[in-house]
Formats: sequence, structure tokens, C-alpha cells
Amino acid sequence: MTSTEIRQSFFDFFAKHQHAIVPSAPVIPGDDPTLLFTNAGMNQFKDVFLGTGRRPYHRAADTQKCIRVSGKHNDLEEVGRDTYHHTFFEMLGNWSFGDYYKREAIAWAWDLLTKVWGLPKERLWATVYKDDEEAETLWKEVTDIDPSHVLRFGEKDNFWEMGETGPCGPCSEIHIDRTPNGTATASMVNAGVPELMEIWNLVFIQYNRDAAGVLHPLPAKHVDTGMGFERICAVLQGKGSNYDTDVFMPIIRATSELSRKPYDGRMDGSISAEQAEVDVAMRVIADHLRTLTFAIADGAVPSNEGRGYVLRRILRRAARFGRTLGLREPFIHRLVPTLTATMGGVFPEIVQKETHVERVIHGEEESFNATLDRGLEVFEQISGRLRATGGLRISGEDAFRLYDTFGFPIDLTSLMALERGLTVDEEGFKESLERQKERSRDAHKGAGTSLAVKFAADPARSAETRFLGYTSLEAEARVMSADDAFVLLDQTPFYGESGGQVGDSGVLEFGGTSVRIVETQKDGKVFGHRYEGVAKDLIGKTVRVRVDAERRAAIERNHSATHLVHEALRRVLGEHLHQQGSLVAESHLRFDFNHFERVSPEDLRTIEEMVNDKIGQGIPVHTLNDPSEWLTIEEAKRRWPNVKMFFGEKYGERVRVVEIDPTYSVELCGGTHVVNTRAIGHFRFRSEGSVASGIRRIDAVTGDGAVALLRLRDQELSQRIEATAEAVDGLSGMLREVESVSGVTSPIGSRDLQGMIDRLEQVRRAIQAGTRSAELLGEQFANHATLAADVEAIMLRVTDVRKQFEKFLEKRRLQEASGSVGDLVARAADVNGVRVVAAEFPSASIDELKSAGDTLRTKIGSGVGVLAAVIDDKVQLVCVVTDDLITGKGLKAGVIVAAAAKLVGGGGGGRPHLATAGGKDVAKVTEAIAKIPDIVRSLL
Ligand code: ALA
Repeated sequence: MTSTEIRQSFFDFFAKHQHAIVPSAPVIPGDDPTLLFTNAGMNQFKDVFLGTGRRPYHRAADTQKCIRVSGKHNDLEEVGRDTYHHTFFEMLGNWSFGDYYKREAIAWAWDLLTKVWGLPKERLWATVYKDDEEAETLWKEVTDIDPSHVLRFGEKDNFWEMGETGPCGPCSEIHIDRTPNGTATASMVNAGVPELMEIWNLVFIQYNRDAAGVLHPLPAKHVDTGMGFERICAVLQGKGSNYDTDVFMPIIRATSELSRKPYDGRMDGSISAEQAEVDVAMRVIADHLRTLTFAIADGAVPSNEGRGYVLRRILRRAARFGRTLGLREPFIHRLVPTLTATMGGVFPEIVQKETHVERVIHGEEESFNATLDRGLEVFEQISGRLRATGGLRISGEDAFRLYDTFGFPIDLTSLMALERGLTVDEEGFKESLERQKERSRDAHKGAGTSLAVKFAADPARSAETRFLGYTSLEAEARVMSADDAFVLLDQTPFYGESGGQVGDSGVLEFGGTSVRIVETQKDGKVFGHRYEGVAKDLIGKTVRVRVDAERRAAIERNHSATHLVHEALRRVLGEHLHQQGSLVAESHLRFDFNHFERVSPEDLRTIEEMVNDKIGQGIPVHTLNDPSEWLTIEEAKRRWPNVKMFFGEKYGERVRVVEIDPTYSVELCGGTHVVNTRAIGHFRFRSEGSVASGIRRIDAVTGDGAVALLRLRDQELSQRIEATAEAVDGLSGMLREVESVSGVTSPIGSRDLQGMIDRLEQVRRAIQAGTRSAELLGEQFANHATLAADVEAIMLRVTDVRKQFEKFLEKRRLQEASGSVGDLVARAADVNGVRVVAAEFPSASIDELKSAGDTLRTKIGSGVGVLAAVIDDKVQLVCVVTDDLITGKGLKAGVIVAAAAKLVGGGGGGRPHLATAGGKDVAKVTEAIAKIPDIVRSLL
């Protein structure tokens, strides 16, 4: 059977048993902040198990794309070294949602394996959870398994959990004996013996583990099974290794072709160490290619944090294994088409996103390639030094240097160390990393403050602060503690910096005195108000605090606008787009998102329009300001299936939701917002750019910020108007002069000029008169763009006319010059029957002098001409000789001009009919000209 047929027969079997065959969920779980990657088939049904979600079916089956590289289920270290672990794999699964239970799950698994697929019964082993009497009995009752092949194991092997929290329950696993003669014994099961491979896990979901680690029974009991697709393919295709199946071989073959190295694949120690290394590299690359492709196709991008950093690590490992194969140029992206050709039928998304995936991978490979070789050298030096001194451990600093300067993720360094029998001081590495983070935080915040303030860790300052700031900006509060920097209160209307929104500022008043609060920070639920002045004596007193309301309003405009632009970006640029970071300040907002190319100016306009449209609609902003209204994530998801949440954000048990039109923007967010979008006034981008590979940043302003932006643009436009007016002036001066000197009429009329001047004056007045009300801002920006375009057009026209005129003048000069050449010819001297012209001929450039020489040669009919001019403080000479004299008399322009040049302290030459020369002796020009007849005579 091919792998495609195997997958299909699984679906067919469960369809026959009334299961709905459903599509795989994306490998990036956009809506579960407890998960980095989808790691099991049941992820997409978590809500059904928890009783908070429903599906239109009670039985389902599918093949689920899974990635296991982090968290509870992490297979990274095994990959490539053995034959059956992968970072990406397909999990075939069947589910019962409160429908059938252990009996059917066990009976059907047995039927599929032994009857449909014909696996030998004597080679199958089943394990059950130590307390699961029922499952053990069922195995013996509903199947004809050898009863001595049913074993009990403890929690580690037979109690399955999704993660630190979530649905879980006892499980029963099926293992297959792959020893040559089927001689496995009970002691080999779950003992890390590769010949006894687990192929299918049947989980009987009945609990939910909460954040405190406590198990709660679920409202109903469910079945959740997972079978490793690549493993079952190896078994059914009789291959010793998953990598030898038709799932992997096309990729391995392509890698082998690229590197011109053979793949052997034997794992029995019969091949050379060198070949074994090549084999491992090819397996790792094949595995990592799948993870990268599927993750990127589902919207992830390599980056420096979270999920993105996992991908970056995977890619860098693959790149480094490429070096083992001698692949030095980016190559991983070249394997993508092979993968899409083999798996695109089942997962069309990788075909649709193929180009995107290739580009993302290629970009990452290229940037890592730049430092990889140098990093490998440094690694060799480090390990060489250790060897010399008998050391076995790479220091944290060295590991950090490899990370910081050469981009080596710590696990890559560890892996390379392992290959050399070394270890890495990972603790030391973490410390170095922490120190660097602190330094950059300090540098970022400036002296005197640190983002890392920890109040909650200090028992004297750990009391929670009640936050009043969703509904009030002013309050009475008791001073709980105060040092030179921070005041802590029992309750506060001041928003503490979090979720990208900056902290509030304002005043604290007591009696007749007040101190200024310059910013507010938050550590967990403790708020610290950084202040200027002395407040220590206020401890225990009740004071009045007031938030700077204007500043808060500006921040809120920017925060609500951030939500609006987030959705607009997704609608215009695509669903792959996710927030990667944001800053919501008083003066502007900044929003980072994953997107692989520059956002075009047209798209930026469209996005701006969409946001301004939402502002203009005056949509009420609904925030759950009373914490008692907050919801669980599940509840929020049920009410707003489109709710946005962010990976890496630590949400509490209950979350606050900000809704701006339920069909437009709904986000989990703790920030403060305008009451109605109209209050934002206006939204405008200031810039768009790249922050990191695959991450773009937009910077925008709203309300007053937009007014300020318009003012700035006015200023720039005013400068442009003045420059243009000057150019118009210059042009009209030039036209007047030419007309008066030459009597030539200019191609641009004085009426045109007056038109330009008038228009500039209008623009000048228009921008001076601008009213700046929020309602009119959009119009004014548009108007501004028109005015700017007009000024630009005038400037272009001026430049154009000026150029035309300069050309025209040049032509006239030449015409005049040619007239005077005629005069020279008329006064030619006769030297032994040869007409000779020698004269000074003032010219602006060598070209002009040469062109005069050409004219002379034509006009003289038969003769020799030498013209001289002083150009840029040097003497330039041109000599021409007509053809008849070249052939008849043997005269050569090159020879004549060389002789003349000598007289002015220079040299030169050229062809017989025209030659040029230069000299620095400007004072000798007249003398040289006078000697020309003699020179010609001497040559005759
Ligand atoms: N959810 C179970 C597993 O991942 C089937 O093994």
C-alpha cells in the first residue's frame, strides 16, 4: 500500500463506523494561548471535551498535522538519530464525543490493525493504565490478543495529558514487535527498545487538569486516539525506518541529488561513520523541511520569539546539517517543491502557499548563512581549546557569543557539543542572556528607570492595587509605601504600562502640596507610580490622585485605532497576519505584524481609508469594565468566534474583551479605549518598514497627532512652495534676458509664468488657512495631497522649460560659432599652396571646440586648420586636415597638433584628419598660433 492508500483506508474504516471525516486543523493554533503548535489530533476538539463547545457530530476521524518541538511533547532531540521520531508528523485519529467508549475503541483498533491491515496478532502488545481494570478486561474480552501481551503501566506511560493543563485521562497503547523473529518479551515494552514501537494510543478522556494541577471530572467521557501515520506506513510497507517509506524518500532523494551524496539508511552499524553522519543529516533535513513548510504555510514566520524562534532554531539546525552534506548555498527552500508534490494532494494549503514558503525559508537561510561558517570556525576554536586543556564543558559566555554574534541557538550549540562529547553550561548561557536583556532594557528606557521593577517580590510592597482606571480618572487613595522613586497606593485610576499601552501620568495631592506622577508601571497586580519630589512622609495618608486626562485620551485614541488597523491589515493583506508587538503611546502608535513584503502605498491608502471609515461610522466601543463581567477564554470564543488573542500573552482565568463592532474587531485586551470610534478623529500612517526578517512595522497617528502630522506636512509644503517660487523667478529672469539679448521669443509665454505664480500663491494661502477640526482632517489630508501635487507639477514644468532653453541656447551658440568659422576660412593664409587657418577660438567646452574644428574642415574645402581655446585654465588645441592633403601631401593632424602642443607645454595626438591636444602654458597661446604656418611648412 502507498501512504496515500493507507491514509484513505483509515478514513474508510471509520467512515464505515459512522465517523465524520474532518479536515486537519492548522498546525498553528491561532486561538489557544496554551499551545505553541498543534501537537495532537484532539487539540481542535478541546472545547468539546471541556463541555464548552459542540460539533454537529458525535464521532469524528481525521489526519492531523502535528508539530512536537516544545512544551510537554517534544521530540526534537531524537529526530534523525533514530528512525521513528519527527518534529512534524501526521496523527491519524478517531474520536467519540460522549458517544462510544473503551469497548468500541479497543475493538475497532484491533479490527483495523489485524483484519483490515492484516498485522500479525502475535506481534502486537497492549498496555493499560495501572488502575484501569476495565480496559484490561476489555482487551481480553473483545479481541483475540495473546492475554500475556496485555501489560499495566503507571502514569508516565499510560496517563495522557495534552499539556500542563487541559483534558486528560488514562490511555491504552498498542505496540508492535519488530524484532526479526518476533521474539520480544514483556520487559522490552516501554523500555526504549526501538524494535518495540508504539503505534497507536487510545486515550479515555475523563478529566480536566487546572492550573493548580488538580484533576476535575468532565461532564462526559470521550475517546481520543492517535496513530503515528509515518510509523504505520513503515510497518505496512515493511520498512525498517519511517524514512524509507514513500513519505520521506522523495525528499531524501532530492537532498541526495542536491548534495551529490548517496543515502544509505542502514541503522545496524554496518556503514562507515562518515556515511552514518550523512544519513542523519538527510533525515534531519527531511524532517525539518516538513515542519518549516507546514508551519509557514499556516502563517508562522521565523522570528526572535516564541513560535517564531522555534522555527528559526529548526531552520538553523537544518542549515547546519546541510554543511555536513557540503551544501553551502541556501538549499532548504529548493526542497519545498518536492514536498508539495508528495503531500499537496492531502494538504492543498502547502501548494497554495508554496512561493511564500520558499521565500520565507530562503530569506532565513540567507541571513543565517552569512554567519554560519564563521560561527562554525569559532565553535571549532572553542572545542579545540577545551580539548587541549582537557575541559569538557563549553562555558555559558562562549555559548552566548555563538548565539549573539553568530546566531547559533543554544540547542544547536548543545547538539554540536554532544557530537564531540562535550556539554554546554546552559545555566551560564541563560545568565548571559538575561544580563544582555537587562542592558538593552536599560538602554531602551534611559537612565533612572527600569522596566524590570519588581514590586510583588517585595513583601512590603506586594499588596494588590485595586485598579479604578477603566471608569475613573480621579480618586482618593491610601499611600501603602513610597521610596525615592515609586509610590504605591491601595487603589488607583492610573493605568500601569502593559499590553503595549504606556502607563498614565498625572498628579498626587495632599493638603496643599502636590507631586507629579511621571509614569505608572505594573508588576502583576501591583501598580507603582514613579514620581518626582518627596512622598515618603505620606505613607499611611489618604491622598488625592488625578490622571492627566488629556494625555490619557490621546493614548486611548491610539489604542482603539490599533485595534481598528489590526483588523484592516488582516482584511487587506491576508489572514496570515498576526500581531507581533505594539506600542500605544500618547503621540503615536506602532504595530508590528508578520508579512513578507513591503506594504504597497496603495494598500496603505486602502487600510487608512478602512480605518477612517470605521472612525466616521461612530461605532460604540464595548469594553467589559467591571471584572465581574469578564469571561473565560472559552466563553469569549463562543460569543465571538472571531476574537483575537495573542500567543505568549499570559491571560488570567477570566479575560476582558474589547469589541468594536462584533463583526469587525473583537480582542482580548486589558487596555483603555475611547467610548466611540468617532473620538479617534482621524487616522494616518507615518511610516511602514521592516523590523526583522518577515516582520513589518507601521507607525501611525490619530486625533491631535494627525493634526500635528498635517502641520508638519504643511511646513514641508511651504518650503517646497518657496523653492518652486524661486525656480519660477529664475526661469522668468532667464527668459527675459535671452529675449532682450537675442530677440528670440521663449517657448513659454509670460502668461504661463503668471499662471504658475498665481497658483503658488493660492497654495500658500490654502495651507495657511487650514482649519484643523477632527471632522475635516480627512478632507484636509486629501486636499493637501492635491496641493502638493500641483506644486510638484509646477516645479517639473520649470525644470523642463529650463532644460529646453539651455538646449536652445547651446544650438544658437554653435550657429554663431559656425558663422565665425566662415570668417576665419575667408582669411586663410597660403603656405606653399596649402590654405592654413590658425586662430584662437573661445569655446565653452572641448566638444564645442572640436565641433568648430569639424565645421572648419568642411568649410575650408582643402587645407589645414588649428583652433585654440583656453578652457578651465588649460590650453586646448584642435587640428584638422582635409583628406586630399593627407593623401596628396602626407600631412597629419596628429603630427601638427603635437608640434603645436609642445609650444604650450603639453602634448596630444589623434587621427590624421582630426586631432586634439592640451597644454598648461596659457600665456603661450598666441605665440603657438603664430607658429602654425611654420610647422606646416616644415612638414611639406
Ligand atoms: N491525544 C493522544 C496522543 O497524542 C491520542 O497520543
